[in-house]
Amino acid sequence: SPYFTYQDGVLHAEGVALPDLAATVGTPFYCYSTAALEANYRAFADAFEGSDTGICYALKANSNLAVIRTLAKLGAGADVVSEGEMRRALAGGIPADRIVFSGVGKTREEMRSALESGIFQLNVESIPELEALSQVASSLDRTAAIAIRVNPDVDAKTHAKIATGKKENKFGIDIDHARQTYARAAALPGIKPVAVAVHIGSQLTSLEPFRAAFERVVELVHALREDGHDIQRLDLGGGLGILYRDEDVPSLDAYAGMVRSITGNLGCHVTLEPGRALVGNAGILVSKVIYRKTGVHREFLIVDAAMNDLIRPSLYDAWHTILPVAEEDQDAPRTRIDVVGPVCESGDTFAVQRVLPHLDQDDLVAFLSAGAYGAVMSSTYNTRPLVPEVLVSGSDHAVVRRRPTVEEMLAAEQVPAWLEK
Ligand code: LLP
Repeated sequence: SPYFTYQDGVLHAEGVALPDLAATVGTPFYCYSTAALEANYRAFADAFEGSDTGICYALKANSNLAVIRTLAKLGAGADVVSEGEMRRALAGGIPADRIVFSGVGKTREEMRSALESGIFQLNVESIPELEALSQVASSLDRTAAIAIRVNPDVDAKTHAKIATGKKENKFGIDIDHARQTYARAAALPGIKPVAVAVHIGSQLTSLEPFRAAFERVVELVHALREDGHDIQRLDLGGGLGILYRDEDVPSLDAYAGMVRSITGNLGCHVTLEPGRALVGNAGILVSKVIYRKTGVHREFLIVDAAMNDLIRPSLYDAWHTILPVAEEDQDAPRTRIDVVGPVCESGDTFAVQRVLPHLDQDDLVAFLSAGAYGAVMSSTYNTRPLVPEVLVSGSDHAVVRRRPTVEEMLAAEQVPAWLEK
């Protein structure tokens, strides 16, 4: 990546040397590049230039306020899945009328605050949800502009845990039942079905599943219009994959061209909800080697980051490239080693038998492509404080989420009086 490069023998984020950052904020920490975020957003927007398109950044990928603000300044809308995310989007400066609210289990409270804020669209995923929304909207004397998220029964050909478009997944309404559901929706007070939504999964590395899903959606739009519904918008979700290792990722132009060729004749406004594609390669996780340990059969590099900080390898067997922060001689010998965290689980493994140059105590390493689904999925398991997030811009940096103290972590807990007797 042009944003994380070796300069003077050490890895930098833009113009900031990572060893300097590590000395200031301590390890582990997440580090995001403003220039990378901007370039990713602009590339996405440019690919869709000239089409009636709204880019609603899927906040779940990285909802740090400074990241949201960076994208908001470029004109991004937001795709949110909770009241918390909606409030983050608003706090980050994304106007309510560019916010889409997705998710299989919106509560009535969330619906109420979404309607009161005046958001663009709610994506409904079940009939009980439709009924609840109708009641909430009616009680507020409002009309909810909705999409129904359909499940097109298409295999996204991605990791099973992040595929969402098959019949057996919990997401959306089976596309074969969509017409009935729109009829039901149109008959309910407080509901105006204006859109069809679809999202079949994440980290897709082929356009074919998208194409199959979008074609089914277009067919549905024609049928719905025949049924008398005024469908003016499509929401095509997110899911475009990024390069982690050696994937053959479709270009943005190919993706945009495919969207245009399939949906171009409908006259619909198209919402896109990219998450990973905007932030994934804009962030890294920097960690320090605590020990190098020789086991019976293999060697281990025990680093100070763990599965609670970056869960993707444990949860999805995901590959994150690991770079030594100190630049290695190209001819330096390389060996195979397991890179693990200090958490008490065998699953706390970042890489198995990874080929790396020699690394030892106190050396810094960077896990690449950690900008999406990194910090947001972290936990405090093993009472490990959430790691700081740092945003770099040129030669400037700012801590955009600080590391909480253990005192702060304990402060929310209380021992009941009866135990103190
Ligand atoms: N829209 C909807 C309705 C979604 O469910 C998602 C992601 C997105 C958009 C954004 O998808 P993206 O463009 O980022 O692929 N934690 C997993 C990924 C989970 C994705 C969940 N939904 C991971 O680390 O790979």
